[in-house]
Amino acid sequence: MKKTFSVLMATVLAAATLAACGSSKAPETAAATTAQGAEATTEAASEAAKDTTEAATEAAAEFTTITPGKLTIGTSPDFAPYEFYHINNGNPELVGFDIALAQKIADEMGLELQVVPIDFDGILMELQNGNIDLGISGFSPSPERAQTFDFSDIYYSGGQAFVIRKADSDKYKDYSAFDKLPVGAQTGSIQMGLAEKNTPNANIIGLAKVTDIISEMVSGKLEGAFIEKAVAEQYIKNYPELQIAWDVEYDTEGSAIALKKGSDLAPVVNKVISEVLADGTMDEYIATAQELASDSENVYEGQLDANGQVASN
Ligand code: ARG
Repeated sequence: MKKTFSVLMATVLAAATLAACGSSKAPETAAATTAQGAEATTEAASEAAKDTTEAATEAAAEFTTITPGKLTIGTSPDFAPYEFYHINNGNPELVGFDIALAQKIADEMGLELQVVPIDFDGILMELQNGNIDLGISGFSPSPERAQTFDFSDIYYSGGQAFVIRKADSDKYKDYSAFDKLPVGAQTGSIQMGLAEKNTPNANIIGLAKVTDIISEMVSGKLEGAFIEKAVAEQYIKNYPELQIAWDVEYDTEGSAIALKKGSDLAPVVNKVISEVLADGTMDEYIATAQELASDSENVYEGQLDANGQVASN
């Protein structure tokens, strides 16, 4: 495999990207809405005042990113169709509908997108420490997280699934069958909470990557696993020995982008989300991501090695 993939994305970067604080002006500063010609009635005056405030707010749509000229996002690329690697002519490219959305946000801001792959349980810490601008990784905006972080509007509505091996479908009919058995979930994910709630007597095992959960399911080290439904469906296409046993109920459904509390990026992030949802662009991102994810021979989920290549393990 050629070693041409730029290591732009090496995890190491998480530690290196920092310090510098840049301020960028939104490329389209909204044209001021003037209230010319408004009659001098109280109503018109108050309308005018409102217009001016709105125009001023938009004109001041200024944002700060950790590296000037760049939008730095953290993601955990073990999560097709959200984020994963697609090998294109030997080069692993980070793709998925989260990445397409991130690119759109960066474009809207007139910034270069920089993606830092991080295991899921480290993303919010990097965000908190100011090493990334946004966490875009299929985040569920749970009330616990919302105490410490801000979340964008929902951009994707998924669901939750409980996965078993197809061969066990007669054996496992409900959660009580998993008492004392090994059940997996991704460390730091809301799926850990779902495991604790639904299989409290199981031996709950947290693993850093969904990829690892899948291989332990296949090898028989885990008997069941809580996984985001769209992701489970995608893995099952490539590992037909697995199946979704049943859907799992979850209160805070849907994916949102994680921001630092009080981040000034929220308005532009939400503007892009509402646009891509309204004009069908998001559906295109999802379709493209699903198509790439189904090209199973060229899909890689997990972290690349220090040379930006698929890690051989
Ligand atoms: N939606 C779940 C959560 O927010 C899981 C997200 C995991 N994302 C990933 N790229 N592995 O906890």
